[in-house]
Amino acid sequence: MERMKIAVVMGSTRPGRLADAVAGWLMEQLTRREDAEYEIVDLADHALPLLDEPMPAIMGEYRNPHTRAWSERVAGFDAFVFVTPEYNRSIPAALKNALDYLYAEWGDKAAGIVSYGADAGGARAAEHLRQILGELRVADVRSTVAFNKYVDFDAEHRFAPAPYRSDELHLMLDQLVSWAAALRATRAVAR
Ligand SMILES: Cc1cc2nc3c(=O)[nH]c(=O)nc-3n(C[C@H](O)[C@H](O)[C@H](O)COP(=O)(O)O)c2cc1C
Repeated sequence: MERMKIAVVMGSTRPGRLADAVAGWLMEQLTRREDAEYEIVDLADHALPLLDEPMPAIMGEYRNPHTRAWSERVAGFDAFVFVTPEYNRSIPAALKNALDYLYAEWGDKAAGIVSYGADAGGARAAEHLRQILGELRVADVRSTVAFNKYVDFDAEHRFAPAPYRSDELHLMLDQLVSWAAALRATRAVAR
């Protein structure tokens, strides 16, 4: 069977974002795993405009080259790790926009969430993201990793997570890989 492919989706596009440090640590942790191929998907590289498709994504009729390119990228993955900061108690607009662009490409796939924020580890963004993923038929796993800007980063904003964070991450990834494999079978039947 072909190896599973899991995207690490960086939800922040802001210059100077902490997302780079979080995703960097994540990718370092992922080199220890052989259960899937993990790949960064940086929304900043895709530079999607605010949704400009005339038809809702559920129709699957894409007019714009940037939508087709985004569709092709997302369709190739079996599962997603969303790395999201909390912006005004939700996910960044760039991540919501990127999710809104597509429909079938997300569906019957698994997701895990790594969040971060100023005071509650980005927990409100993570919960909001779960609501959105439900509509997109994405199965989000129970365990999460939630970093706090003033605990997991030092005074110079260098990422310095406690060792137990690594255990939390691998627990989440174990759940993710298990559901991703199960949903691969579901997709094979559904299509
Ligand atoms: C527009 C904006 C809104 C924010 N709102 C919240 C918030 O509601 N709750 C919170 O805990 N942190 C909030 N923060 C703090 C961010 O979560 C924190 O700065 C984080 O580092 C941003 O991620 P980034 O650096 O990868 O862009 C906000 C930051 C920005 C830029």
